[in-house]
Amino acid sequence: MTGHLRVAPLHPIFGARIDGLDLAAPLPDGLITEIEAAIDRFAVLVIPGQHLDDHQQFAFASRFGPIEGATSGVKQRGNRLAIKEMNDISNLGEDGNILPAGDRNRMYALGNLLWHSDSSFKPAPAKYSMLHARVIPPEGGDTEFADMRAAWDELPAKMKETVKDLICDHSIITSRRKVGFDEFTQDELTRGAPSPQRLVRRHERTGRLSLFLSAHIGGIHGWPVPEALALINELTEFATQRKFVYQHTWSAHDLVIWDNRSTMHRARRFDSHLYPRDLRRVTVRGSRSTVDEPL
Ligand code: OGA
Ligand code: MN
Repeated sequence: MTGHLRVAPLHPIFGARIDGLDLAAPLPDGLITEIEAAIDRFAVLVIPGQHLDDHQQFAFASRFGPIEGATSGVKQRGNRLAIKEMNDISNLGEDGNILPAGDRNRMYALGNLLWHSDSSFKPAPAKYSMLHARVIPPEGGDTEFADMRAAWDELPAKMKETVKDLICDHSIITSRRKVGFDEFTQDELTRGAPSPQRLVRRHERTGRLSLFLSAHIGGIHGWPVPEALALINELTEFATQRKFVYQHTWSAHDLVIWDNRSTMHRARRFDSHLYPRDLRRVTVRGSRSTVDEPL
């Protein structure tokens, strides 16, 4: 299946490392197809040793489909990066210095410490995220991934029946409130209106079912909110058991690709007042709402 790629599994159920690639220059179409097949199988790919600038990272990601805008609807710092569609996943300000305590961008970024799937709050949620490490702290700041296909597969039959056809509301406002950040303007609240998404989705390429969980979930259609959140919390706890989790410890120049349709992820804490951490994300857009996908 992966004829030319050197693929080494990182975990018993998902995640793989690919060596021997240089993504700075354009790859032949055949290799892009092989990388897609590897994502289908492993859901998370680690490609170490990639010396990429913003333009090269963006050009590589663009080979996999249209790129999502970096906007979440909540206003953030001016972009320090060369390309406006690039997400600034750092603790740095426009001047390149570490953001001060209490800074709005810093508070907002803490939402990434919760298990989530990128852009699940957008009508068409993200397909692939491609996160590149430019500067990493000497300790802490790992990223964890959980395999939502394996979580679905192991869910008890009765629970599968309960959740199979449920629709959840996802909003960026919800996940930020969960970390205690609630400084939204009226305009942001309006733009943060929830997007409905299936709780169980079928992968359009592999046909595998997965749980589509995310910290952005604030309710289930037709359910009282506390009952909905109790179920979502229980499912999230189940789906993020250590046996389903691959924990990535970053090296500078790693490019990590994940499929948001079949995984969740979260950042782990680090001493963000002392150390810079500069990661940059390009996100490949999804084509439609999960509500419009067949199960
Ligand atoms: C992201 C994200 C986690 C991290 O880039 O989407 O959630 O560890 N990052 O920075
Ligand atoms: Mn994320």
